[in-house]
Amino acid sequence: MRAPLIQILLFSLLNSGSIMAGLVKSDTEDFIDWWPHTVFYQIYPRSFKDSNGDGIGDLKGITSKLRYLADTGITATWLSPIFQSPMIDFGYDISDYKAIQPEYGTMQDFEELIDTAFELGIKVVLDFVPNHSSDQHEWFKKSAAREPGYEDFYVWHDGIVQENGTRVPPNNWPSVFYGSAWEWHEGREQYYLHQFTKEQPDLNYRNPKVVQAMDDVLLFWLNKGVAGFRIDAVNHLFEDESLKDEPLSGKTTDSLSYDYTKHIYSRDLPEVLEMIHHWRQLLDDFSAKHPERPTRIMMTEAYAGLTQLADYYEDSNGVRGSHLPFNFHFITDVKGDSDARDYVYNVEKWLIYMPRGHAANWVMGNHDNPRVASRFGPASVDAMNMLLLTLPGVAVTYNGEELGMVDYRELSWEETVDPPARNVGEKLYQEVSRDPVRTPFQWNNETNAGFSTAAKTWLPVHPNYLELNLEAQKVANRSHYQVYKDLLELRKSAIMRVGRFNIEPLTRWVFAFKRSYPNFESIITVINVSDKEQLVDLSEFLSQPKKLVVEVSGVDSKYQPGQSLAASALLLAAREGLVCRLV
Ligand code: GLC
Repeated sequence: MRAPLIQILLFSLLNSGSIMAGLVKSDTEDFIDWWPHTVFYQIYPRSFKDSNGDGIGDLKGITSKLRYLADTGITATWLSPIFQSPMIDFGYDISDYKAIQPEYGTMQDFEELIDTAFELGIKVVLDFVPNHSSDQHEWFKKSAAREPGYEDFYVWHDGIVQENGTRVPPNNWPSVFYGSAWEWHEGREQYYLHQFTKEQPDLNYRNPKVVQAMDDVLLFWLNKGVAGFRIDAVNHLFEDESLKDEPLSGKTTDSLSYDYTKHIYSRDLPEVLEMIHHWRQLLDDFSAKHPERPTRIMMTEAYAGLTQLADYYEDSNGVRGSHLPFNFHFITDVKGDSDARDYVYNVEKWLIYMPRGHAANWVMGNHDNPRVASRFGPASVDAMNMLLLTLPGVAVTYNGEELGMVDYRELSWEETVDPPARNVGEKLYQEVSRDPVRTPFQWNNETNAGFSTAAKTWLPVHPNYLELNLEAQKVANRSHYQVYKDLLELRKSAIMRVGRFNIEPLTRWVFAFKRSYPNFESIITVINVSDKEQLVDLSEFLSQPKKLVVEVSGVDSKYQPGQSLAASALLLAAREGLVCRLV
């Protein structure tokens, strides 16, 4: 029944030229492509599943769990880096862009992963880390030795010799991970730039040879059958050639903190957009050459302003760039005490800024930020998944969020391995450590939560795994996992792919949004973001006095799927979300 329905709906929409906020609005090709409505499930390979008992997740482990993704209803995954790396920043420091990290497996394991994913109908997106390599990469070693052809692969500078004869870095730029962004290299007798750890030297994108070398890397993986790339830290790619001091932000007096300066010369330079366009062209050319395979896409990681991210989608000249510039606003712009207006504003601002003809996207979590249960409280897990999965466009889930996994904030200093946390020291590490969100996936209540048979895992497993694990959530009467799965099932219906969208705050603490299309039953999501019970009247929002039938309710809800509700007086428990059908 479903496929014909979608086709009929698509046909009528494409012919009517209907305007649909937040959906792919005008480009008919994109509209029917695989990616504009997909849920991308982020796997953090080191913590997903260990197949060989060394305490570290690996590719065979991922492959063995692809069936789990498929059973859940996931059709696309993006993997944090799996490439050869000294693991200073756990894979974001790459020493060979075309090799698999031996701890994670072999190239054959990767090919098997791709084949299995293909059989299960899952697209695989890889993490491309272009801004920096590892200092162990051949390119860096050659550049440090001034080998012909490699001299300018990285950003080198003599530094400044002060009156008293001491040499200091060329400017005041701090690294994102604390400390100066410059490191002295004894061999070359120059400073090199590193916007992240000192073991992650910044590549020089003003050098066409670097661009060429990276194109080669992208083509290598495209030829292996990946569906595209998540592009890491893309807004850091270029620095102003003058290498001038940045103005002080006034936020802190600690000159080693990233907050010390306003990053006007080291981040978000206009040249970034040119590189995005260049990579888009490469992907489009590849897709055009291989029409039998799915469109190759890019998702870009940049914690940047709305205008800039909108330009990533498509600039003012109509040049298309990133298919999905990650929208992190549910991570950065709402908190546990945000009210309904904050949420509505958060959604609308993206839809307003996004140029027409593109797909909205919503990221609820990742390996760099606290989990939903820790940001908003465990009671909000279902409501936040409802929000993420019933908004129009693409949704991005970080592994474990389907279970409501919780950050392991009690990790000790001794157990801490994340470089920014190690850099700030024992007193402050808990404020910045990303380890708590990277603990192993909780599969069951066996040893190490079923993640590994090792005596010790690379990061400890959260002790709550005995109760909070997938197996328990599969057999429970109701669980976060089942709610998540029901939401993915609901996303398959035609109305969740097309139609009109509107969102409103109903009261200070409750907001609702509607997915609708003439002659189809609308889907309504209503969410209470307060810690108190709230009574709301939805009649005005729904405009007609119709009946609401519960489609998906949360674990602790008193409402059951299939239950009819009166729109005029709906009582929502603290932090409760409900997804209903309007009949
Ligand atoms: C991105 C990654 C993060 C990494 C950093 C440096 O922000 O998500 O994990 O540490 O880039 O590559």
